[in-house]
Amino acid sequence: MDDLLELLPPGSAVAADGTLSVAGCRADELAAEFGTPVLVVAESALRDRAREYRTELAARWPNSRLVFASKAFPCTAVQRVMVEEGLGLDVAGGGEIRTALKAGVDPALVVLHGNAKSVDELTLAVRHGVGLVVVDGPDDVDRLEEIVPPGGNQDVLVRVIPGVAADVHAHVMTGHEGAKFGLAPPAAAELIARIGRSDRITMRGLHVHVGSQILDTAPFAQSVAPVAALGAFEVYDLGGGLGARYTYADRPPSVGDYLDTLVGAARQHLPRGAQVIIEPGRSMVASAAFTLYRVTTVKRGAHTFVAVDGGMGDNLEVALFAQRFEAGIANRLGGTGGERAVVVGRHCESGDVLVDGVELDAPAVGDLLVVPATGAYCFTMANNYNGTRRIPVVFARDGSARLVVRRETWEELSARDVG
Ligand SMILES: Cc1ncc(COP(=O)(O)O)c(C=O)c1O
Repeated sequence: MDDLLELLPPGSAVAADGTLSVAGCRADELAAEFGTPVLVVAESALRDRAREYRTELAARWPNSRLVFASKAFPCTAVQRVMVEEGLGLDVAGGGEIRTALKAGVDPALVVLHGNAKSVDELTLAVRHGVGLVVVDGPDDVDRLEEIVPPGGNQDVLVRVIPGVAADVHAHVMTGHEGAKFGLAPPAAAELIARIGRSDRITMRGLHVHVGSQILDTAPFAQSVAPVAALGAFEVYDLGGGLGARYTYADRPPSVGDYLDTLVGAARQHLPRGAQVIIEPGRSMVASAAFTLYRVTTVKRGAHTFVAVDGGMGDNLEVALFAQRFEAGIANRLGGTGGERAVVVGRHCESGDVLVDGVELDAPAVGDLLVVPATGAYCFTMANNYNGTRRIPVVFARDGSARLVVRRETWEELSARDVG
C-alpha cells in the first residue's frame, strides 16, 4: 500500500476502511458523483510541481522561461493553472492555441510547434500575436512570409536535430538523426541565413527536443552542444522530455538533478546573456492524476484477467510505447490478499492491456481500480474506439471535487455523423 501511495499524487491517503482518498475526496464518492472511468487531478500537486520547476530553473539560469507543453494535458483547467502559476504555454497546433487563449494565457508567452503546421494554424498564431513560432523547415518560412503582413513581424526559433538518440521507446524519440522533427544542422544553418534576410520574420534563436519519458539526464546535456555550434542567439529553447515515475521500479531524476545537468551544459556552451526556455509536459502532470475504473469482469484461468470499464480509449500510453503502469483496488488498499492479475480494458484488441501483471487484493466485480500517474497524454489521446465516450476530468482540492471536463454524451458520439 505504501508503494502505491508513492505513485499517487501527494495528498493521497487511505481511510480506515481501506478506501483511497485524494485531497480529502474519497474515491468511492468521486465514482458515485462522476461515474467511472474518471480522471482525477490533485490540483495542489499540479501547482506545487509548476512552482518547483519555476524556482529550480530561475535559481540556476535567471534569464529563463518555463512553458508547459500543453500537449501533455491540453484542457483549459490545466492550462489555466499553469498560467496562474506564471508559466507560458507550448502549443502544437490550432486546437491547443484555442484552449490556451481560453485559459487566459498572454499570447506573447505562447510557443507554437508542429512539423506540419497548416496555413490556418500559422495564420491563427500570427493574428493572435503568438510570441514564438518554432519553424520546423523551409515550408513554415514560406508560409509565414505569405501570412505576416508588410511591416509586420513574427519572431521565430529554428528547430534543430541534435543527433541524440535517448534511451527511450522509438515512438517517443525525437532528436535522433533522421527524425521527422526539425532540421539537421547544415539545413538549419541554411534556413537561419534565409530568415536573416527576411523583412517580416525575425530569427530569435534555436530549439531542440530529444524525446519523452527520458529517465537519464545525459541526453539533455548532449543536445546542447550541437545547437550551440550553430552560432550565438538570444534564445535557446531546450525542450522538455524529463521522465515521470509510473512504476515502483522507476527512479526518474529529480527536477533539480535534471536542471543541474541541462543548465550545466548551457553554461558550458551557450552565451551567458541568452534566454533559456524549457518546455516540460509529462513530468509536470503525470503524477498529479490517476484514473479510477470500475471492475466489470474477473476471469480466472491461465491468468487472472481483471477487466475494467475503460482501457485504450482513455489510456493509449501502453499501446503507443509500452509504458508500464501499476494498479490497486481503490476500495481495499492495504489488504494482504495479493493475487497476480492482468488488468485489461474493455476494447476489442488483445493489446488493450492496462497493466500486464500486478498484485491486486482479491479483485472482484464492482471494485474500484486505481491506475496512478495518468496525468500525461491520456486525456489528450482519448478516443471513441468501440463507441466509448471520452471520460471526464475532475479536480480535487481541499475536500471538494470540481468537474472541469464532463463525460462525452451519447448524442455527441454521433453528432458528426451526418450520414
Ligand atoms: C517540441 C516538444 N516540446 C516539449 C514536449 C514535451 O515533452 P514531455 O512531455 O516529454 O516533457 C514535446 C513532447 O514530446 C515536444 O514535442
